[in-house]
Amino acid sequence: MADMNDRLDQWLRDAHAMETQAEAMLSAQAKRIESYPALGELVEQHLADTRSQRERLEVCLQRRSTSTSALKDTAGQATAFLQGVGGMMASDEIVKAIMASYAFEQMEIAAYRILITAAETAGDGETARVCQEIRREEEEMAALLMERIPEITQTYLARNEASLAEAKR
Ligand SMILES: [Fe+2]
Repeated sequence: MADMNDRLDQWLRDAHAMETQAEAMLSAQAKRIESYPALGELVEQHLADTRSQRERLEVCLQRRSTSTSALKDTAGQATAFLQGVGGMMASDEIVKAIMASYAFEQMEIAAYRILITAAETAGDGETARVCQEIRREEEEMAALLMERIPEITQTYLARNEASLAEAKR
């Protein structure tokens, strides 16, 4: 059975895979939501945060002297979760995208809460501190996304009505 340090290393690698996936998802989104500036800016900002989160996790893993070469094996683990959301190509893509992003942030928050506990239990205060810092960033992103949902939804609905009216003429 893996001891608590092996388990912590494994969960840190899982979090690294999760951030790698988030990075891919956010950069794809950033290109497709140009017509929603309020969201675009938020996504760009969180994309930068996400890159830095991935790097901070790498520093934790290196400090714990875990080989980072194993990291690429775990990239894409979160893909199944994202595929389950589906509908990204649908006409209401923007609404589905914000829903998927919010769900992803919540998954990240839970993952970091678990890591904080595991790091504290294993006596790795520095990893616990880094995970706490990242968790706060994820919570901030989740709150900002939630705050913008009404505005994005209204913009989508208004544009959809306008294009339907246009099509009828
Ligand atoms: Fe993240």
